[in-house]
Amino acid sequence: MIKKIFIKSYGCQMNVYDSQRMFDIMKPEGYHPTNMIEDANLVVLNTCHIREKASEKVYSEIGRINKIKNKKKSLKKEYLLVIAGCVAQAEGEAMKIRAPSIDAIVGPQSFHKLPEILKNIKKRNQTIVKTEFLANKKFDELIYNNNSNSSAFVTIQEGCDKFCTFCVVPYTRGSEYSRPINEILKEVKNYTGSGVKEVVLLGQNVNAYHGNDIDKNERSFSYLINKISEIEKIKRIRYMTSHPLDMHEDLINDHKYNPKLMPFVHMPIQSGSDKILKSMNRKYNVNEYVEIIDKLINARNDIAISSDFIVGFPGETDDDFKKTVELVKKIEFAISYSFSYSSRPGTPASKLSNQIERTVKKERLKILQSVLNKQQKKYNKNFIGKSLDVLIEKKGRHKNQYVGRSIYNQSVFMNSENNIKGDIIKARIDNVTTFALSGNIIN
Ligand code: SAH
Ligand code: SF4
Ligand code: F3S
Repeated sequence: MIKKIFIKSYGCQMNVYDSQRMFDIMKPEGYHPTNMIEDANLVVLNTCHIREKASEKVYSEIGRINKIKNKKKSLKKEYLLVIAGCVAQAEGEAMKIRAPSIDAIVGPQSFHKLPEILKNIKKRNQTIVKTEFLANKKFDELIYNNNSNSSAFVTIQEGCDKFCTFCVVPYTRGSEYSRPINEILKEVKNYTGSGVKEVVLLGQNVNAYHGNDIDKNERSFSYLINKISEIEKIKRIRYMTSHPLDMHEDLINDHKYNPKLMPFVHMPIQSGSDKILKSMNRKYNVNEYVEIIDKLINARNDIAISSDFIVGFPGETDDDFKKTVELVKKIEFAISYSFSYSSRPGTPASKLSNQIERTVKKERLKILQSVLNKQQKKYNKNFIGKSLDVLIEKKGRHKNQYVGRSIYNQSVFMNSENNIKGDIIKARIDNVTTFALSGNIIN
C-alpha cells in the first residue's frame, strides 16, 4: 500500500530545506508526498520557536489535526503526528503533556532518525522524544534528491555560537557546525542534474562558514563560493543570513569579482541604537555596520542590502527607536523584515526588568513598517523602464504567467506563451508594487 506524508514548514528557509530532506528520507520507506493533510498517513509539523506567535500556531494546528486523527482512528486508518523543528527541540517532553496526541517529537539535529522512530512508534505505541544534537551524523545520513526547481536551498552551516540575548537559535539548533566542502559540492552537482541553476546557501550565520576541505584544512566561506562557481551549470549563487561580524574582506571582494555571486546581501542590523545593540549582545555598533555597507557598495555599487529589525527590545526608549528610524532613512534598504520583540523562555533578555509594553511595541512596529514599506516601494520604482536578468522559477496563478527572481532577489512577474521555466531571460520592468515587479520579456 502506498503511504502518504504531509509536511508543513514554519519559520526560516532552513526548515524548508529540512522538510525537503524529510520527504527524501521517507521515500524509501514507501511514503509519497501529499499536500492534502486529510489524505496523509503521516503528518509532520516542522516548527519554529523564534517568536511566541510562531510557536503558539503549532498548538492550534495540532487541535485541527486531532479532529482528523479521531476520524481516522474510528476508520482504523494509520494517521501519525510528528512534531519536528525548533519547538520540538525547545519544549521536548513538555509538548507531550500539552498535546498527548503527538506520536513523536524530533529536534532539528535528529530528524534523520525519522524512519527508525516511526518503526518504534508502531512497536511501542507511546510517544517518542528525540532531541539529541547529531549535526555531523545527520548530514551523512540524509538523502538529497528533492529538487525539480531552477533554484535550490543548500544548508552549509547550522547552529549558532553568538548568543544574542533575545534569540532561541543557539538553544534549538545547537552550536555552530560547518559541513565539509566536498559534501556541499556533491550535493550542488547532484541538483544540477535536475535543472538547478541557482543555489541559495543557507546558515543561521552563513558567512561564519569554516568547513573542512579534503586535505582536512579549514576553508572560508569565500573559498566555498568560488568552488561552487566552478560548477558550469550553476549560474547564480546566493546566501543568507549573514552576520555583520563575519562579513570579511574576501567575501566583500567576491561581490566585485565573481559574476555568479548575486548582488544581494541579507545582513540584519536589528536596531539603530548602540545602547540596544550592546544589550542585544550583537558585538558591533551602528558605525561599524554602516562601514561594512559602504565597503559592499564600493565593491559593487548596485548591491541590494536587506535587514531585519526588532522593535521594543527591553529598555528601548523613544530616543533609541528614533535612532532606528533615522538609520533606515540613511541606508537605502532594498527590503527589510521587522518584528516586535517577543520574550523567549530561557533567553537572557527575557529576564531583563525593563520590558516594553505591548501597545508601545505595536505602535513602534507600525511606524517602522510604514517607513520600510515606502522605502522598498521607492527602491523598486527605480527599476521602471530598466531591463533586468530574471531566473524563472515557476508558473504564476494566471494563464501564461511566470514568476522569477531578479539578480537583486525581487520577484518579477511576466507573461509568455512558451514554457520559460528554468530560463534566465531579460525583462523590461513596467510596473512595481511594494513587494514585486512586473515586466515584459525582451527578445
Ligand atoms: N542569524 C540571524 C537571524 C536569525 S533569526 C542574525 O543574527 O541576523 C531571524 C530574525 O528573527 C532575526 O534577525 C530577528 O530580527 C528576529 N528575531 C529573533 N528573535 C526574536 C525575538 N525574540 N523577538 C522578535 N524577533 C526576533
Ligand atoms: Fe540568533 Fe544572534 Fe545567532 Fe542570529 S546571531 S541566530 S540572532 S543568536
Ligand atoms: Fe525558527 Fe528555528 Fe529557523 S526557531 S527561524 S525554524 S532556526
